[in-house]
Amino acid sequence: MERLDKVLANLGYGSRKEIKVLAKKGVIVVDGVIQKDSAAQVNPESSSIEVNGEKIFYRKNIYLMLNKPDGVISATEDNYDKTVIDLIDAKYAAFNPFPVGRLDKDTVGLLLLTNDGELNHRLIAPKWHVDKVYYAKIDASVDEEDQKAFEKGITLDDGYKCMPGNLEILSVSDNLSEVKVTIHEGKFHQVKRMFESLGKHVIYLKRETFGPIKLDTNLEEGEYRELTEEEVNQLRVAVKLV
Ligand code: URA
Repeated sequence: MERLDKVLANLGYGSRKEIKVLAKKGVIVVDGVIQKDSAAQVNPESSSIEVNGEKIFYRKNIYLMLNKPDGVISATEDNYDKTVIDLIDAKYAAFNPFPVGRLDKDTVGLLLLTNDGELNHRLIAPKWHVDKVYYAKIDASVDEEDQKAFEKGITLDDGYKCMPGNLEILSVSDNLSEVKVTIHEGKFHQVKRMFESLGKHVIYLKRETFGPIKLDTNLEEGEYRELTEEEVNQLRVAVKLV
């Protein structure tokens, strides 16, 4: 149980003082009954709470999948650039979601956002090896040698040896290849650096899956949706939280 004014203040309905005034006016309804005491205890998870005739949007934890567009950074705040949080409606942003790991500014595709610290922690911890699949365009012809290098584990410029990954070749020509890359870690610029080690450059990168979650093909770049209960559960299973 929580205080009604605290629940509403956290959701951006005003200060506790302002909420007290709203309550006195009789515009707050809890489970069909006008609640004039803003200090009343409520259970926002199980109760229906209305303010001015509108049902509040309440979640204990929020889980979103965003199709991240180019040019937006995976952070909650930035002085110069637009962040992924700037793309999220105030109704969801009120829960203070943050990105699960990072995609580069020019990488597009699946980015999860949540305020569930424990799940986030496990999803980005190397220990749980959550697989990520990327679609990439490379400025060169990608071949079997490259595939073998991925299987063996590529050594990056700083000497770090990646875990074995998978490189699937979708199409090849002299100066352009399309590939699908599966990696189990999430080092800084990892996919780009893996190709740099092979003397090739990533010119387009899109994340398609993160562990059990696939990017919803109905989402245009810049669009997002809540994860379904089943998807959240699949994530929990993937990192042994259930
Ligand atoms: N690897 C990269 O190089 N960049 C990303 O954004 C994600 C993986």
